[in-house]
Amino acid sequence: MAQNDSILRFENVSVTFDTVEALKDVSFDLKEGQTRIILGAAGSGKTVLLKTAIALDCPSAGKVILFGQEIQNLREQQLFDIRRRVGILFQEGALFDSMTVERNVAYPLISLRTASESKKNVDRSKDKPAEPTQSIRERIQQALDFVELGQTLKQFPDELSGGMQRRVAIARAVVAQPPLLLYDSPTAGLDPITAHTIVTLIIKERDLDNTTALVVTHRYQDGNLAANFRYNPDNAQLEPDPTAAERTIFMVMREGKLVFEGSQRELEASTDDYVSKFVKRD
Ligand SMILES: Nc1ncnc2c1ncn2[C@@H]1O[C@H](COP(=O)(O)OP(=O)(O)O)[C@@H](O)[C@H]1O
Ligand SMILES: [Mg+2]
Repeated sequence: MAQNDSILRFENVSVTFDTVEALKDVSFDLKEGQTRIILGAAGSGKTVLLKTAIALDCPSAGKVILFGQEIQNLREQQLFDIRRRVGILFQEGALFDSMTVERNVAYPLISLRTASESKKNVDRSKDKPAEPTQSIRERIQQALDFVELGQTLKQFPDELSGGMQRRVAIARAVVAQPPLLLYDSPTAGLDPITAHTIVTLIIKERDLDNTTALVVTHRYQDGNLAANFRYNPDNAQLEPDPTAAERTIFMVMREGKLVFEGSQRELEASTDDYVSKFVKRD
């Protein structure tokens, strides 16, 4: 793909639930390599925006174009194929409590494998629940090593701290090496040090795999880090990067409307009372 190719485009998208208009005429174009930081009050439509991107919620008006395809028009199998290219970290991480870390991280890969085999009409009806194959095991190990939790394969989520659980959720989101990642409040409920670790992983994923992302967050600091730092693989730390700002766009949601879209500099210059509430000036 060329530098400025569109990965995800919303064209005048509205989403309505009964009487609630969760999204109102939202348009934006997420380009390859961009990270968009989505800020906004509780209930402003941030989660619905992410779900609409992969057709878990559906527009009452407008179009969503994901990887060049209008997703409302896709059949189930096509939708399944396109969703495989999107890694998702749901709000709270949402791990399966009854599954080990290994099984949690395997989940997207095993459902991928089953989907591609069913396409080839392989009869799996007599199979036991799929055991991870060797290559899947290697991917799981890599994804857990990526979040520095390579030793936790056999543990259950409730045996891990909140921050570790969130890291497992990141491993699960990246395990299939998707070109697009959607993170819903990845740092919510974490202490500042753990939150910093999580953002470092998000930036690591962006910089090592050149992924595109939407990141919903309440913490201005998360956007500030994305817009000003890069991941240094030599010391596993963030370091200043003046070029990161060009690839980082901020969006502010208010009652379903996209009321701000622009760079961090533009965000910080906003005189709108609502928009500037989300900027933490030191
Ligand atoms: N499945 C649903 N059914 C009805 N209302 C919903 C549904 N999902 C979201 N909403 C409503 O849409 C609005 C936006 O929700 P959401 O996107 O979850 O907000 P947030 O910005 O906090 O993530 C809220 O008023 C919420 O109650
Ligand atoms: Mg939400």
